[in-house]
Amino acid sequence: MADKNKSIHDFDLNLICELHAGLKRQGPGSPEMTIKALSFLDNLNKNLRVADLGCGTGGQTMVLAQNITGDITGVDFFPGFIDTFNDNAKKLNLQERVKGIVGSMENLSFQKEEFDLIWSEGAIASIGFEKGLNYWRDFLKKDGYIALTYESWFTDERPAEIEKRGVDNVPEISTIGHNILMMQKSGYIPVAAFILPEKCWTDNYFIPRETAGKALLEKYAGNKTVEAFIAKMRYEAELYSKYKQYYGYVFYIGKKI
Ligand SMILES: C[S@@+](CC[C@H](N)C(=O)[O-])C[C@H]1O[C@@H](n2cnc3c(N)ncnc32)[C@H](O)[C@@H]1O
Repeated sequence: MADKNKSIHDFDLNLICELHAGLKRQGPGSPEMTIKALSFLDNLNKNLRVADLGCGTGGQTMVLAQNITGDITGVDFFPGFIDTFNDNAKKLNLQERVKGIVGSMENLSFQKEEFDLIWSEGAIASIGFEKGLNYWRDFLKKDGYIALTYESWFTDERPAEIEKRGVDNVPEISTIGHNILMMQKSGYIPVAAFILPEKCWTDNYFIPRETAGKALLEKYAGNKTVEAFIAKMRYEAELYSKYKQYYGYVFYIGKKI
């Protein structure tokens, strides 16, 4: 039985990295939803300068690169993810335009107003929605876009079990309406917001993660920390199946004013 009081943040980062390193994605999403988010942006027919923050191994970055022109820099603090990211770019012959670098989303080594577009799927929660929106804005050109996914409540009230899980995992979790307002207050025109379909969680994330989890349990047979970690992952998937009408990932797209 998973320790329900333990959040994912309590587990060793190396363990989280090892579980996710071989997966196509490290969080919910899909190529179709990345392309849908892109469809809300104007002025894409030029050489863009793009950052993908918290890029992981680059599942969404490669989709982006195949659908826009210009250069993309992926940033992630796990060197193992960035190695795979750069291998993936090479396999797709995108290495001239797509580069991954190890770095922190909270301390970016870019010029102010360098980017036409900042992309970030499933990563902003680790530095905070409001903080990320405000900090990253400085790196966007005027009229540049931000497009990100963030876990959000769909309703004003929730059952206690899922309320607790939401707040443990994403301390600032809030409703879609609140997040759109936050985007506006942070200096963006809200352009679009849409909910990621269930398949983005199940087929594209939980199912491959479960396979990777079984392999990890075999590799570290008898290791209690690994067992607790995988039990926690499974509990997360159960909660999603039970409460998916109350929360999920939302794509938020805004334009810098
Ligand atoms: C849920 S995963 C999403 C990965 C990828 N964008 C995707 O959708 O498959 C979040 C990613 O953000 C990265 N990350 C979290 N906090 C970070 C930080 N402060 N600086 C850089 N990367 C960070 C993690 O290493 C992880 O790869």
